[in-house]
Amino acid sequence: TEEEMAGRVHAVKKQLGNRLFIPGHHYQKDEVIQFADTTGDSLQLAQQSALNREAEYIVFCGVHFMAETADMLTESHQKVILPDMRAGCSMADMADIHQTKTAWDRLQHVFGDTILPLTYVNSTAAIKAFCGKNGGATVTSSNAEKMLEWAFTQKERILFLPDQHLGRNTAYTLGIPLSRMAVWDPQKQQLEYEGELDDVKVILWKGHCSVHEKFTVENIQFLRQTNPEMNIIVHPECTHEVVQLSDMAGSTHYIIQAIQKAPPGSSWAIGTEMNLVNRLKNDHPDKTIISLNPNMCPCLTMNRIDLPHLTYSLERILQEEPGNIITVDNETTEYAVKALQRMLVRA
Ligand code: 13P
Ligand code: SF4
Repeated sequence: TEEEMAGRVHAVKKQLGNRLFIPGHHYQKDEVIQFADTTGDSLQLAQQSALNREAEYIVFCGVHFMAETADMLTESHQKVILPDMRAGCSMADMADIHQTKTAWDRLQHVFGDTILPLTYVNSTAAIKAFCGKNGGATVTSSNAEKMLEWAFTQKERILFLPDQHLGRNTAYTLGIPLSRMAVWDPQKQQLEYEGELDDVKVILWKGHCSVHEKFTVENIQFLRQTNPEMNIIVHPECTHEVVQLSDMAGSTHYIIQAIQKAPPGSSWAIGTEMNLVNRLKNDHPDKTIISLNPNMCPCLTMNRIDLPHLTYSLERILQEEPGNIITVDNETTEYAVKALQRMLVRA
C-alpha cells in the first residue's frame, strides 16, 4: 500500500542520512514531492545540484535532462539516479544533436559567423555541449531574458533551441518584433522566413512543450467572458498569443511566488502543469485557483516518477545495487558545463 511504501522511503532516508539527496521538480506528484529534500524549478534544481558535494546518491525526481544536468554539475563520486528511465521530455526529444549540426551548417552558410547558439535546459547533454563549444549557453525559463540580452552582446543573431515559444516570448519581451524572428524546421531542414535575411535577429527551433501548448486563446476568451475578475498567469512555454492575452507569465518559481503574494480572496487561472496547479490550490484555500484549461494538463513523463518507482530505486541503493544511474561522458560534460556555467554565473 501507499502507506507501506511511504514507511519504507522514510526508513531508507533515515538510514542513508546525508549520503542521500532527493531534489524534486515542482511538476512532480505529491506522493513523491513529500520526500524531496529540496524542491524547485529547473534553474533552482541545477543550482542545488552544483552546490551539493557530499551526497553519494542523488535520486532525481524530475525528468531525464535534469538528471543529466545534475550528473554534469556534481563530482564523479556522486551518482545521479532517475527512478524511472522513461521519464523523458517530449520537447527535449524534438531536437537531437545530428539535426542541430545540420541546422548549424546550413545557418552558417546563410548568415556566416554571426550566430550564437542558446539552448533551453530542456535539451540533451549533447546539445548543451554543442552550445558550450560554440560560445553559447543554456537558459531556463527564469533567466531567459537575461541570457538573451547577454547573447546579443556576443553575436548579432541567436539560434534558440528547442522551444520556439520560450524563445519567441522572451525575444518579444526584449523588444524584438515578430517580423525579425525566423523559424528553423528540423524535419524539413528549412528556414521559414518571409522578409530580408539580413533582418533576422532570432532563429527559433520548431519545438514545443506538448503540455503547455494545451492552453489556448479560446480558454482565455472563455474566462474573460465568464469570469472577468480572474487573473490569468501562464508559463512562457505557452504560445505567444496565449502569453500576450494573459495577465502575467513566468517560470514555475515565478508562478508560485505570484500566488503566494496574491491577496486572500483573489482568483487565479493558471496555465501550467496539473500537479503544480493542484498543489497551489491545496496550499492556498483562501484563494480561488483553477487550471486555465479545465481538462487539466498533466506532464505524462514527469508523472512516470511515482511512489513505487521512488521506493524501488531507494531500496536498490540500500542493497548496494543502485540502478538507473545517469552518466554523461567526459567530453560532453566538459563542453556542456561551459554552457551551464555561462548561465549559472549570470542567473
Ligand atoms: P521551469 O522549471 O524552468 O519552470 O520549466 C518548466 C518545465 O517545463 C520543466 O520541464
Ligand atoms: Fe518537457 Fe513540457 Fe513535461 Fe516540462 S512539462 S518535462 S517541457 S514535456
